[in-house]
Amino acid sequence: MTHNGVNPSAEPTSPPLWLLAELTYRCPLQCAYCSNPLAFTRYQNELDTEAWFSVLRQARAMGAAQLGFSGGEPLIRKDLEVLVSEARQLGFYTNLLTSGVGLTTQRVDALAEAGLDHIQISLQAADPELAQALAGSAKAHANKLAMAKAVKAAGYPMVLNVVLHRHNIDQIGALIALCDELGADAVELANCQYYGWAFLNRQALMPTREQLIRAEAETNRWRETLAARGRDMSLLFVVPDYFEQAPKACMGGWGSIFMTVAPDGAVLPCHSARELPMAFPNVKETSLQDIWYQSDAFNRFRGTQWMPTLCQQCDERDKDHGGCRCQAYLLTGDMTATDPVCQHSPQHGLLENLIADNLQSTPDQAPLIPRNARQSKHLQSQDGS
Ligand code: FES
Repeated sequence: MTHNGVNPSAEPTSPPLWLLAELTYRCPLQCAYCSNPLAFTRYQNELDTEAWFSVLRQARAMGAAQLGFSGGEPLIRKDLEVLVSEARQLGFYTNLLTSGVGLTTQRVDALAEAGLDHIQISLQAADPELAQALAGSAKAHANKLAMAKAVKAAGYPMVLNVVLHRHNIDQIGALIALCDELGADAVELANCQYYGWAFLNRQALMPTREQLIRAEAETNRWRETLAARGRDMSLLFVVPDYFEQAPKACMGGWGSIFMTVAPDGAVLPCHSARELPMAFPNVKETSLQDIWYQSDAFNRFRGTQWMPTLCQQCDERDKDHGGCRCQAYLLTGDMTATDPVCQHSPQHGLLENLIADNLQSTPDQAPLIPRNARQSKHLQSQDGS
């Protein structure tokens, strides 16, 4: 098998469909479940507006049609509206993934004017006290609620996202009631996945199996209640990988449909890949076309030849693509290992142990480490990087 710029798959490489533009790692909030890299303060040299224009043009010319603006908090970028406008003119379907902090009714209108297609706002909790404890901001919760309404008033569907974890999952009924009251059209109840800061904080964030079962049952009760009222608010409940028996087809397969451009121009097959012990090319030096088709980074886990024998012989190999490389690395230290979420993995027991250990600990024993620049620098100095 070769990884030197040659796709090891027998299949020809398809063009990317999805571009995630991570405009900045800066964020006014400090959520301990953030999937940004721990060392985010190392990458402060953000692409400027012209460089982002070039990224958008190149990706669209390659065939990408879906575009997400995220971060950090993308609203921190003053040129967001300009970038949206350019993306829209290029023919992208544009999504903004935001905490809502930094949004105003004027800015909602300006984004609509620029042609933004879709906005998703995240909530931390059902009540302001817990929201403040989780996000580190006293004002954010009220602003999010006001902006969710402003987004709907501007003609967008109201799409809300809540990352669920040990500290807020028991509020799920109150969270759904709040979204209902706000007039939400869709709510994503996404259990935390453990990458970046969330991996660092996993002991403090992991729910118990009982919490998960109760939360899913409560979601199902709400689905029935909403249907009985004729209320059209979809509820998507996403189970955390650690509690599954089969791995997810992460990113639809490495280098298959999805491409992330990080704030400093690094191009990644997924938003968490920066944690892997490998080098990633940068749009400042190489074209997106070359990166997607020729780079070692993107070809590394395409196809099936890189897989361990266990995965190569599995009937699911073309469906789950061997699971998640970042998860395999974070849990086993080997990015080529079978994703331990798979029940056939020799390391599946690691997850059983983590879940069992988590049962023993109380939230006080595992305090949350907030995601902020000070902690990021502290962690870098600790590991000598
Ligand atoms: Fe990186 Fe799954 S999150 S491959």
